[in-house]
Amino acid sequence: MEKALSGVKILDMTHVQSGPTCTQLLAWFGADVIKVERPGVGDATRGQLRDIPDVDSLYFTMLNHNKRSVTLNTKADKGKEIFVKMIEHCDVMVENFAPGALDRMGFTWERIQEINPRMIYASVKGFGPGAYEDCKVYENVAQCAGGSASTTGDRDGLPMVTGAQIGDSGTGLHLALGIVTALYHRTHSGRGQKVDCAMQDGVLNLARVKLRDQQRLDHGPLNEYSQAGEGIPFGEATPRAGNDSGGGQPGRILKCKGWETDPNAYTYFITQAAVWKNICDVIGKPEWKDDPKFATPADRLPHLNDVFEGIEEWTMTQTKFEVMDKCNKLNIPQGPILSMKEIAEDPGLRKTGTVVEVDHPERGKYLSVGNPIKLSDSKSEVTRSPLLGEHTDEILTKIGLSSEEISSAKEDGAV
Ligand code: COA
Repeated sequence: MEKALSGVKILDMTHVQSGPTCTQLLAWFGADVIKVERPGVGDATRGQLRDIPDVDSLYFTMLNHNKRSVTLNTKADKGKEIFVKMIEHCDVMVENFAPGALDRMGFTWERIQEINPRMIYASVKGFGPGAYEDCKVYENVAQCAGGSASTTGDRDGLPMVTGAQIGDSGTGLHLALGIVTALYHRTHSGRGQKVDCAMQDGVLNLARVKLRDQQRLDHGPLNEYSQAGEGIPFGEATPRAGNDSGGGQPGRILKCKGWETDPNAYTYFITQAAVWKNICDVIGKPEWKDDPKFATPADRLPHLNDVFEGIEEWTMTQTKFEVMDKCNKLNIPQGPILSMKEIAEDPGLRKTGTVVEVDHPERGKYLSVGNPIKLSDSKSEVTRSPLLGEHTDEILTKIGLSSEEISSAKEDGAV
């Protein structure tokens, strides 16, 4: 079966995490992703956080599935000549170098358009145009500059970064959407265009509920935040709210049976108004249904600590999976805190291809994430990441170089 993006050729100048996330997604949808790497060096992540000596790290392999690798020194004259042929050959170029790196190589957006007017040129940078446009940025800087860190963590604690890589992988996702949108536009405009996504902007897009709350603060306290119920005044900015739910249905992380020894024996419990009576029944407090302190959402807001203490008395008598079984039957939204070990071993996630086992010639079998986006007519199969320069000869042949030209480029150190 043809894949959704079969025939789309991606010139992948990405490295580290944000750009590779984007091009891996496109590869999972069937695009031919040609990863260009510096001869003898490659993407820095090949060597970072290594668990097995001299073998591509999981950091690299898990971000570069389904791609082909060509080595090319795009600063050398001969390398530049070859790079021009690759720009002519491809539909999309993706890069996430530090600001100005491609311009310094001589490949400005204007030059790329001259070479191939149908080329879509997609970039990730830390910041958009303005005061910080020249800055290098990594994940946690983006989480901080995008408003996430100031609104994450305990009220009295430090700003906190999250485990989910919303700056890198999140921006890669945004960029992938920009690329397929530009590809769609090209089907009727006939022209390529530039797609920019700044990590600060990507994080803010994901943290938008906190910008919503910033404006609500002008009109009074944020009553669904636990600090409101505790009588603690709000300051000028959206505060950190621990594990309070960011939506209109109050929720918290509650202890479950075994919490004293198991760091993940917890559940996230949401007191959805529609099923409040079911909650009262399952926790053994039917009298709360008519209690003026707890009967309606408005009654409960000033007493959220009492509400969740009461629910936790019950969840502590159940394992997190028992809470899930019992509550799901009653339509109560909640879910267990799953450890990465539990996720790695989850047969359901293996079955859907969300977690996959991949075989690599140097490291053997390892687990990775599969495509989280499922298309009914374009199933994703995860294939291993390429070794450095594994496909150099076949790609250079495809773009028209003779074997003599390839040998000479190798002798010159251009590939
Ligand atoms: N041939 C020749 N040179 C190459 C090359 C190739 N195939 N590929 C990369 N290079 C060069 C670049 O041109 C650059 O050279 P220059 O500085 O002389 O212009 C150099 O390698 C290093 O690139 P750079 O991007 O500056 O790498 P870095 O390791 O110093 O910085 C980041 C890493 C991530 C901080 C930076 O790339 C960045 O800010 N990127 C944008 C934001 C981003 O994506 N951040 C998240 C990463 S997960």
